[in-house]
Amino acid sequence: MGLNDATRAPVGAAPEPFAPDLSVRIGPLTLANPVGVASGTFGYGEEYAALLDLDALGAVYTKAVTVEPRAGNPAPRLAETPCGMLNSIGLANPGLVAFIRDKLPALRARRFRTVVNVAGAALDDYVRVVEEIEAAGGVDAYELNVSCPNVKSGGMAFGTDPALVALVTEAVRRATKRALVVKLSPNVTDIRETARAAEASGADAVSAINTLVGMAVDVKTRRPRLAMKTGGLSGPALRPVGVAAVYRISRAVKIPVIGLGGIATADDALEYLLAGADAVQVGTATFADPGAALRVLEGIEAWMRQNRVARVADIKGLLIE
Ligand SMILES: Cc1cc2nc3c(=O)[nH]c(=O)nc-3n(C[C@H](O)[C@H](O)[C@H](O)COP(=O)(O)O)c2cc1C
Repeated sequence: MGLNDATRAPVGAAPEPFAPDLSVRIGPLTLANPVGVASGTFGYGEEYAALLDLDALGAVYTKAVTVEPRAGNPAPRLAETPCGMLNSIGLANPGLVAFIRDKLPALRARRFRTVVNVAGAALDDYVRVVEEIEAAGGVDAYELNVSCPNVKSGGMAFGTDPALVALVTEAVRRATKRALVVKLSPNVTDIRETARAAEASGADAVSAINTLVGMAVDVKTRRPRLAMKTGGLSGPALRPVGVAAVYRISRAVKIPVIGLGGIATADDALEYLLAGADAVQVGTATFADPGAALRVLEGIEAWMRQNRVARVADIKGLLIE
């Protein structure tokens, strides 16, 4: 049924009931709906349980899990900028053992899909995190954060080198049959190259984008606002970069693309879906409004009803170019 068919009902007739199918397939995994909360902005889910109906979310992408506990970087590690936020949290997390012991039981009891964000300083770290969580059981998918760390051998950031993206994806692919998402960095010349490397190495989907490198200076003190000097820019300023990345990636690979970066409203999410995304994540917006992701979901559903779009996957076909 086309976009204009809704307007053809005879005057006075009751509109026919129309219930869009919100489900989304990511490799072997089905999400009940396309909206998730982004890694690092929603803890491990339970932190927000008193504030919203967590189970209405399609997925929770957890804070990064690394082999060892990490305290993260020195403060200040957050700075507000016009239309965005800089962070240099540094993958602070309780580590693999504490994640399995303290966080996993509550995640297992939830109806939303749990996607564990995995990070490491070396390729073996990624494999170990996934192997041990696989042995413990109870998660639905993994999202590899290849945007921060370095490898033992080359010392080059994983996420900016397609060959390294391929290595880590292949290695983790051997460790799990669950859905494997590779989260791409926008700090590259052509993000399609890392997306293609992830696809060719067995990823079920890519998510785009992680933060852009940014810096802010306090002109009164003449000091960088972050102790680490540079950090990652997130929030509305990132959205056009993310939408362009999703647009280009979705035309370069066949696997699903999960779009994120600066989504705060349903219209923001629809930009991503029209540009080629199959699902979306809400990140920084959650800090201002913990219920942002659920509002985004309601708005997408309302838009689909209004425009008589049957499936989320149909939205990308509606972009007029
Ligand atoms: C405070 C903070 C912590 C983050 N931690 C992680 C992380 O652990 N792993 C990861 O892959 N991305 C992390 N991110 C990146 C977000 O998941 C997301 O890619 C980025 O913020 C862009 O989306 P947004 O503009 O909606 O926030 C973090 C972002 C912020 C703001």
